[in-house]
Amino acid sequence: MYFINKRVSKRLEEVHIESVREYLRYLKFKDDGSEFQELMNLMTVNETYFFREFHTLEAFAEHCLQEIAESKMSNDERTIRIWSAGCSTGEEPYTLAIIIREMLDNVKDWKIEIVATDIDENVLQKGRRAIYDDRSVKDVPDEYYNKYFDAVAGGHMPKQIIRDMVTFEHLNLMDRMTMRKKRYFDFVFCRNVLIYFDEISRKQVVDHFFYISLNKGGYIFLGHSESVGRITTASK
Ligand SMILES: C[S@@+](CC[C@H](N)C(=O)[O-])C[C@H]1O[C@@H](n2cnc3c(N)ncnc32)[C@H](O)[C@@H]1O
Repeated sequence: MYFINKRVSKRLEEVHIESVREYLRYLKFKDDGSEFQELMNLMTVNETYFFREFHTLEAFAEHCLQEIAESKMSNDERTIRIWSAGCSTGEEPYTLAIIIREMLDNVKDWKIEIVATDIDENVLQKGRRAIYDDRSVKDVPDEYYNKYFDAVAGGHMPKQIIRDMVTFEHLNLMDRMTMRKKRYFDFVFCRNVLIYFDEISRKQVVDHFFYISLNKGGYIFLGHSESVGRITTASK
């Protein structure tokens, strides 16, 4: 509540509105949607960096990715689809792109689609621009940095070959209509996002990933402090 209070108060000052009641009325009756988006942008916590939670990524790279690739090959398929849900400024989806280029044999023969979504328009813009500060790249192994990044004015930029693997889209995980279109993924990464949701919403989102978004045999990755067992009973 402290966090919400601080950010709403700051916004009221910026738009020269004196009370929350008046602001609510403004949001409800006068806003064309842009103020609501502005408020959403202010409410989100966007902490992220490249190669965050390394052990999870190791499990993805060494076990899950190999398993899915083998199963696809045995069915003569060559497409792998990944959804980074709550991607923030893009470090997570670009990290996944780097791992796939490193780990998948004959990567050129595969069609890799990484869809990165977030509710916050500002972070999506940063993700598309793809210029990162020193803090964001601090955990990138040197070997990968030399291979997949360029030092540019203002920071560090993943190379075109990595940027081309990721598409950014605006999406609210609580919006059932747009969520319904998100299907046929082999992997869903939703790390450090659901910690900000209440219990019912959390279950709704995870059940959606499991029953609607994920291909059979696919994987959902949550943050390392999150446990699916506490959220849902969904199982294969
Ligand atoms: C802490 S960041 C996590 C970034 C990345 N997944 C990671 O683990 O490094 C959480 C992100 O979730 C997004 N988010 C929060 N609520 C959301 C919602 N309802 N729909 C989509 N994204 C949401 C926020 O905008 C924020 O960018």
